Formats: sequence, structure tokens, C-alpha cells
Amino acid sequence: MPLDPTTAERRALITGATAGIGAAFSRRLAADGWQLVLVARDAARLTEMAGELGATYGRDVETIPADLSTDDGCAVVEQRLTDGSPVHLLVNNAGISLNTTFLRSTAEDEARLLRLNVHAVMRLTLAALRPMTERRNGAVINVSSVAGFGATMPGSTYPASKAWVTNFSESVGLSARPFGVRVMALCPGYTRTEFHQRAGINMSKTPEWLWLRAENVVDEALRDLGKGKMVSVPAWKYKVVVAGMRHAPRRLLQAVARDARGRIGRDEH
Ligand SMILES: NC(=O)c1ccc[n+]([C@@H]2O[C@H](COP(=O)([O-])OP(=O)(O)OC[C@H]3O[C@@H](n4cnc5c(N)ncnc54)[C@H](OP(=O)(O)O)[C@@H]3O)[C@@H](O)[C@H]2O)c1
Repeated sequence: MPLDPTTAERRALITGATAGIGAAFSRRLAADGWQLVLVARDAARLTEMAGELGATYGRDVETIPADLSTDDGCAVVEQRLTDGSPVHLLVNNAGISLNTTFLRSTAEDEARLLRLNVHAVMRLTLAALRPMTERRNGAVINVSSVAGFGATMPGSTYPASKAWVTNFSESVGLSARPFGVRVMALCPGYTRTEFHQRAGINMSKTPEWLWLRAENVVDEALRDLGKGKMVSVPAWKYKVVVAGMRHAPRRLLQAVARDARGRIGRDEH
């Protein structure tokens, strides 16, 4: 099995590794014996995370402070993927949402979202796949979202960015598979992390039962990767939601989305 974590010298590069789902990937993979390369903007937090993983699991942890919404930030991480010691698993996890609907947004903010959620994912996947396909070994997990299966949030462009991530991962995954390399889109539903707070989105009206734990999302993602799935939707409740989104009439979905608008703390219009 190409990703057997018991094999020595397996190395994973995780973006957005200091919080939420990325931190959960870092801890789980360190516990499983992987060497790690962690990427995020905040250098102090990266050092703290590397110290924690080193002390707890005895892992050597590299850190790369980089803003992946910039060309320079992407270039530094691309270089690590192509020139340094081999990376066997890339987790493109860093992503943001905005607490502004499109009509009130600015081109600058929308471009920042697209540069991180879409452009960086494309660049790092491309940089990782070249050496992986040459070695005929490796995998890429692109963290997408249940939101990407439809126009779930009126006025928000975030679901469109995640629709791209899912579609891109499936498409590229099909071409990488004959080389022994897997690409999987991970599509979580609402997960307790810093994500909504960072975007300033008030989630206080979201029912408790809808929330997932980042650790459970990561466990299911790695199980699904092991099974060779190309799209992973953790938790049965979100599998049901996604089945509904894929098969329900468009007009019904649009009505549900309009109705849900008042229940999330997003600007109107
Ligand atoms: N939480 C949810 O409900 C949910 C649901 C579905 C999908 N997702 C997706 O899951 C992924 C992870 O989200 P999360 O909820 O774990 O978020 P989070 O808790 O806010 O963590 C985000 C991580 O990304 C890093 N980051 C943010 N902007 C960055 C940039 N420009 N360049 C490099 N790193 C950056 C942050 O560190 P720095 O600030 O130091 O850079 C942090 O490590 C995202 O792609 C998100 O869209 C989340």
C-alpha cells in the first residue's frame, strides 16, 4: 500500500497546520509516525506546534511560515515540494470564508479568498504531483466542503471556491491514479475550529448536532484515503445532506438556502 504509515521516512506537508482541521491532521499523522512539514502564516504558532509534536511524538518537524494567498508564499512551499526531501502526502487545508455577501464585498477580498482557496491549491497540487507520479507513490488531500455541492449560502462565493476544489480533485485524481498516486477531496460539514470566528460569522444559531469534531473528520478522511475514495464526506448526517444536495431539484435547494439565510450570522443581500 503506497501510504503505509509504518514505513520509515514518510513525510506529510500540511497547510494551515496550526489550527482546526490542519492541527488535527498534524497531531494524527505525527502519532502515526509521519515526519511533518507544517505551513501557516504565524511563525510563532508554527514553532509552538512543532515543539508540541516534537515533545509528544518525538517527530522532527519542519516549519514554513508562508502566506499562501500570495505568489511568494506559494513559491516557497512549491520549492519545498519539488526540491527538498520527498513529500509523500500533501494536505491542502488552509482556507477562508468571508462574512460579506458578494454585493457588499470588494474585489480585493474576493481575490484573496480565491488565491488561497483555489489558486494555492492548484499550484501546490501541481508541484506535489510531479515528483509523486515520477516515484509512483503519494497522495494529495484537498480540503473542500459540503458547501461546495450547491449554492448553499446566498451571496457567498465560498461554496463556488469549494465546488472548484472538489471538481478539480476528482478530475486530477483520475489522471494521477494510473501512476499510483491518489488525490482526494475532503468535504466536511460544520466543524468546530477557528474558521467561523476568524471570518466573523456568528454561528450561535447553528444546532449542536450539526457540528463535527476536527479529530473525527481527520480519522474518516484517512480511512477514506486508504479505501481509495476520491471524495470523502465525513459523518453519516452529512452524507445524507450531500445525497440530498446532489439529487434534489435545484429550485427546492434554492428555497432551502434562502430560508436558511437568516439562521447564519452573515450580512444580508
Ligand atoms: N470549520 C468548518 O466548519 C469547515 C467546514 C468545511 C470545510 N472547512 C475547510 O477546512 C479547511 C480548514 O479550516 P479550519 O476550519 O480548520 O480553519 P481554521 O481553524 O481557521 O484554521 C485555518 C488554518 O489556516 C491557516 N491560514 C489561514 N490563512 C492562511 C494563509 N493565507 N496562508 C497560509 N495559511 C493560512 C491558519 O494559520 P495562520 O492564520 O497562522 O495563517 C490556520 O492554521 C479550510 O479549507 C476550510 O474551508 C472548514
